[in-house]
Amino acid sequence: MNIQSENNVITSKIKLKIMLKKKVEDICNRQIEREGYSSNLYLAMASWAETNGFSGVAGWLYAQADEERIHFLKFIKYINERGGKAVIPALKQPGTEYKSVEELFREVLKHEEFITASINEIVGLSLEEKDFNTHNFLQWFVMEQVEEEASVRNILDKVKLVGKNNMYQFDRDILTLRTPAGGGTATA
Ligand code: FEO
Repeated sequence: MNIQSENNVITSKIKLKIMLKKKVEDICNRQIEREGYSSNLYLAMASWAETNGFSGVAGWLYAQADEERIHFLKFIKYINERGGKAVIPALKQPGTEYKSVEELFREVLKHEEFITASINEIVGLSLEEKDFNTHNFLQWFVMEQVEEEASVRNILDKVKLVGKNNMYQFDRDILTLRTPAGGGTATA
């Protein structure tokens, strides 16, 4: 074997080592769909809030939708950087009606719990597959989910305490309950 062919063999062995395994690529692509849907879901909720007189709640949800788009982009870039192919999916249409702000935030919490479980499943697979790069990439999301769930639970507590008697005050103050985007630890 000449030097050139030896180099080619070494290069392809390195590529095999660093490229995403198909299983991991597929589950990360599934997460792209889920993060994209999260962004659309919060936009739909923002639109409901805005057209029902809750401009503060709408502001919170628009900002949340922007954060979800950053999560969406992080997965797209990660898959492509690891030699996979990110697939941009069609997104299903979120609901358009909510009975109350409290019901809306209960839905937000349910959705974030679903996303947490989904991230944890990818963490589990990355360990099974000994894909430590993906495991490392996911740690930001693990922390982000802790913060997001805590933030929504805090809002739900406030809706229950203040909201029933004074939705005006709740809507006026909700933006002060936002935690900094991305836990202040990472960039898109
Ligand atoms: Fe990207 Fe709120 O999960």
